[in-house]
Amino acid sequence: MDLVGYDFPQLEISLDEYALPGPVLDIGGGGEGVIGQLLGWDVIAIDHRLDELLETPDGHDKVMMDARRLGFSGQFFPTLTAFFSLMYIPKREDQITVFAEAQRVLQPGGSFHLWDVTLPAEPLEGSDYFVVSLRYGIRGKDAGHGLWDALAGREAGCSSLHRSGGKGGIDLCSVGYAGPLFLS
Ligand SMILES: C[S@@+](CC[C@H](N)C(=O)[O-])C[C@H]1O[C@@H](n2cnc3c(N)ncnc32)[C@H](O)[C@@H]1O
Repeated sequence: MDLVGYDFPQLEISLDEYALPGPVLDIGGGGEGVIGQLLGWDVIAIDHRLDELLETPDGHDKVMMDARRLGFSGQFFPTLTAFFSLMYIPKREDQITVFAEAQRVLQPGGSFHLWDVTLPAEPLEGSDYFVVSLRYGIRGKDAGHGLWDALAGREAGCSSLHRSGGKGGIDLCSVGYAGPLFLS
């Protein structure tokens, strides 16, 4: 059986403007560990997959942990980030749990910086999976990766994250196609 994919337009994001106060908790920070590359030892990256954490470059802390059960006591972090990771938490109930956990460990007045994709309903109809081709720049270094996943049973996308964020006790301040999204 042939599967049908939906290709998002290429995304380009420059990250140099993000001088975020630490310690920064980076949720789903395995893979290329982009936020760790950006902010170094200010970052604790958590990911529930050891293989993803082992892939990331050294230079920041890494902990194997499920974002639905953060093993930190309350209100510790001034900054939370999720760089194209919540799109891999497709179920609404899990997204709500993650936002509630984020709220629990975020300092009052802190901020949650979230980059994600908007999954528009219409063009995706009839597609089995989506592909996002992402290029990001850090201090003049240009890098990139491809993100893809199956669409079956998926409730991701800004509007879904918006609803989940609200239920998890976090208000989304602004929403933009393909992020970044800002939560506080
Ligand atoms: C596409 S990667 C994110 C890219 C990464 N932020 C980077 O900088 O390269 C998505 C990550 O989210 C992680 N993830 C998915 N569900 C998770 C969960 N419940 N808890 C922690 N990490 C999760 C996956 O293991 C994967 O490493």
